[in-house]
Amino acid sequence: METKIYKANEIDAAAQDIVDGKLVSFPTETVYGLGADATNESAVKQVYAAKGRPSDNPLIVHVDGPEMVKTYAQPLSAEAQKLLDTFWPGPLTIIFNLKPNVLSKTVTGGLDTAAFRNPNNQVTLSLIRKAGVPIVGPSANTSGKPSPTIAEHVYHDLNGKISGILDDGECQYGVESTVLDMSTDQPAILRPGAISAEQIEKVINKPVLDQRVKVADSQVPKAPGMKYKHYAPNAQVYVVDSPDDWKDAAEWAKKQDHNVGVMAVDDELKSIDWPDNVETYSLGNDVLTASHALFAGLRYFDNDSTVKSIFAQGFATNGIGEAYMNRLNKSAGQKHFKA
Ligand code: TXA
Ligand code: MG
Repeated sequence: METKIYKANEIDAAAQDIVDGKLVSFPTETVYGLGADATNESAVKQVYAAKGRPSDNPLIVHVDGPEMVKTYAQPLSAEAQKLLDTFWPGPLTIIFNLKPNVLSKTVTGGLDTAAFRNPNNQVTLSLIRKAGVPIVGPSANTSGKPSPTIAEHVYHDLNGKISGILDDGECQYGVESTVLDMSTDQPAILRPGAISAEQIEKVINKPVLDQRVKVADSQVPKAPGMKYKHYAPNAQVYVVDSPDDWKDAAEWAKKQDHNVGVMAVDDELKSIDWPDNVETYSLGNDVLTASHALFAGLRYFDNDSTVKSIFAQGFATNGIGEAYMNRLNKSAGQKHFKA
């Protein structure tokens, strides 16, 4: 089966695939998702198979608005309602307690909760409406690889394994949504994303826990997905924390008998006379453009098997920098360059 590319004027055909229990990749403002009818058990099972995703890692349920959530979730708290009013549609995924027996264990990984997200992409909102069902969607990459930010990335990983890809160009943010657990009295961020803890705290007027530290060590992490190897290209990635380190990184690269990739903002790229065995990839000019370009850059170097090491620029962990560094540290297996 050759995977079809649907353009934005072919949403009807894509929606029919979803209704027929087939898999369609859909665009969002964060990354491309791998979609299936959330109410169709066998379709949802195929999502895990196509990605090679461990079955204990639950999926996000994408909805066309708050009404669809109410069909599945227990009544929302006033705080939760405020969050939806403020951030939806947008890159905030919220975990709610479920009504009994409304979603299959395949979707929830056997939990009594589910993650809901109302993506800010008109094509996908229209897809959900036309299909008439919520659409589950992990990121549309092979498990362990960087998330896809253009339709070509999805095609590279999943051609032949899914029915279609709904192509709406480049994703705006390039890093996945913030995952916020609202299923207990203590709101907690399970995955940083484009919406920061400070933004959330302002709206609900109460502190938001950061549960990622616990998640990393515990056997049963709150967000099961956080325990797996993630975003890893073929080459070994090293984070370069300070601009002062680029000179030493270039020296190190020069001594290697393999090619080295460098991902940094234009000012850093221009500041160094790179040796011949270095190939550069621009992260634009700040942390926002870098977040947008990170996964595409990691994938770019996968096309060249002679590149065996990648240096990637680190940023301060405020605003979207927190999500950027979370993804970059994972792709680097926490390895940082030291001169
Ligand atoms: O931006 C995004 O969120 C993208 C686009 C496609 O919407 N989706 C995405 O999905 O990143 P995925 O499956 O790659 O990541 C979902 C994360 C995983 O870490 C998963 O373990 C966690 O959310 N998760 C899902 N349901 C959960 C639940 N009920 N409780 C705790 N964590 C949950
Ligand atoms: Mg993912």
